[in-house]
Amino acid sequence: MTTPTPTVGANEGGAALVWARRQATMGDYRALLALELASWSINFPGEPFSESAFRYSLEAGLRYHRMYVYEHDGQLIGWLWLDFNSSWDAVHIRHVQVAEPFWGRGGGASLLRDAIKESREAGRTAITLNVTKANLRAMHLYRAAGFVLDQDNGDRQRMRLELNTDD
Ligand SMILES: CC(C)(COP(=O)(O)OP(=O)(O)OC[C@H]1O[C@@H](n2cnc3c(N)ncnc32)[C@H](O)[C@@H]1OP(=O)(O)O)[C@@H](O)C(=O)NCCC(=O)NCCS
Repeated sequence: MTTPTPTVGANEGGAALVWARRQATMGDYRALLALELASWSINFPGEPFSESAFRYSLEAGLRYHRMYVYEHDGQLIGWLWLDFNSSWDAVHIRHVQVAEPFWGRGGGASLLRDAIKESREAGRTAITLNVTKANLRAMHLYRAAGFVLDQDNGDRQRMRLELNTDD
């Protein structure tokens, strides 16, 4: 287990969000399931949710990927899941989430900054992610961070951010 790293989100919508990051564990399962259910209803409305499939993918992600949780006053309010295995040059963001009561306080942007920093440090040259087009808050966040359309998949799209390693 790593020592929690304090992070400060930008102060766009309310008080700056101060939270501590640590590696996720299966002990976080209940909190992550609650977040996932909230995210699912936004991104896949009307589609059935399988808890067993979620648990299986979470266990695989903890074993093979990098997964972090962010805590504020002892409450798990953020989640970042980075897949370094899906390609040799890019890191794929499997999940990025802030608990709804904390939206608009720069938390989402802060998670993306962490993803970018870690990808650069690993020598990767790009970051990819999939997003539901109707998720306007997420679309805004990704565009503002410089992500551009990579592949149109109907209701969803793949986006890509090239990392300028000279920065
Ligand atoms: C997407 C998510 C991570 C954003 O978190 P957040 O903490 O609100 O992010 P931030 O505060 O850093 O930024 C939100 C931005 O969206 C903007 N925004 C809010 N509502 C918006 C809307 N309806 N349309 C467009 N932009 C919107 C805010 O103004 C802010 O932009 P700004 O910094 O330029 O002002 C969060 O909404 C979330 O966890 N959603 C559920 C899970 C999810 O869908 N994850 C993405 C999967 S691809």
